Amino acid sequence: MKILVTGAAGFIGSHTSERLKELGNDVVGVDNFSPYYDLALKKLNAKTLLEKNIEVLKIDLRSDDLSGKLPKDLDYIFHFAAHPGISNTSTFEDYFSNNILATQRLLEFAEQLPKKPFFVNIATSSIYGLEATFPESVPPKPASWYGVTKLAAEQLVLAKSRENKLEGTSFRLFSVYGPRERPDKLYTRLIDCGMNNKPFPLFEGSEKHLRSFTYVQDIVDGIVSVIGKETVCNGEIFNLGTETESTTAQGISTFEEILQKKIETEKKPPRDGDQSRTKANIDKARKLLGYNPQTSLKEGLIAQTEWFKNNIYH
Ligand SMILES: NC(=O)c1ccc[n+]([C@@H]2O[C@H](COP(=O)([O-])OP(=O)(O)OC[C@H]3O[C@@H](n4cnc5c(N)ncnc54)[C@H](O)[C@@H]3O)[C@@H](O)[C@H]2O)c1
Repeated sequence: MKILVTGAAGFIGSHTSERLKELGNDVVGVDNFSPYYDLALKKLNAKTLLEKNIEVLKIDLRSDDLSGKLPKDLDYIFHFAAHPGISNTSTFEDYFSNNILATQRLLEFAEQLPKKPFFVNIATSSIYGLEATFPESVPPKPASWYGVTKLAAEQLVLAKSRENKLEGTSFRLFSVYGPRERPDKLYTRLIDCGMNNKPFPLFEGSEKHLRSFTYVQDIVDGIVSVIGKETVCNGEIFNLGTETESTTAQGISTFEEILQKKIETEKKPPRDGDQSRTKANIDKARKLLGYNPQTSLKEGLIAQTEWFKNNIYH
């Protein structure tokens, strides 16, 4: 099968591209190499993919001529490209254009193809709001520009399915970590501080936040399980993540155990829109997709720490 992966030079998109290739598919990546975080990491990811015969085309979904530049004989689109996370330095325009406008343009491109691809949208637990512990049927209450724009993108995809114009599904991911994690996220910052003897900036109160910290390969398992289950998935939303909850403080102490040293913290003001609790309710994914994430936080953090040691990209 021929598969387009958007955001392929990013964290989760690069892992999914590799897995789709390992499963025997012809994978084409797309990324605009946005400067949201260190480009050296995205370039390293793209280089690793190229060594596995996955090309990442430099295309901006917001503005480039998609019909002229993207392959047309696609069976699937996995759409990871987005302006992710909650950041004080990002503007509303960043979230709006990369999350809503880019998704709409990609849908318009997909819809006019002679053979319509199945559209897999990658969404987030931030859609639920400050507490994300619910099944997919509960009304969303996003509390950040990120959550609001990702909800809109998800609805654009599901609207196409409701109108019978394109088949598709949406996966809401919960707190993903592992090798290649974005530099703005908890564990990359923690590993960097621990290994380079810097104090770890801890947002006030965040040590008590509860999270479904989910290892990236467990997320990829769930995402690729859509293949062959298109009828079950069409028009549906699925939560993907671990049911095990850990506090940020437990995450820090797990890493301290791995590194065998104490990490100094430095208090920072709390972030607006930061979730207090996420716990993936995966009853639906378990039942319909056989989803069963297994990696413990310690196992996952050992793998991420090894990756960090071996890839000094910064
Ligand atoms: N990391 C997590 O914990 C997490 C949790 C929930 C949901 N998600 C979702 O997963 C997806 C991937 O997240 P990630 O953590 O891998 O982020 P990432 O930033 O590493 O990957 C996103 C990639 O998309 C690219 N991109 C952004 N705008 C683009 C555009 N206009 N055109 C083309 N490419 C563009 C970026 O350059 C980047 O490489 C996102 O949709 C995000 O909302 C991530």
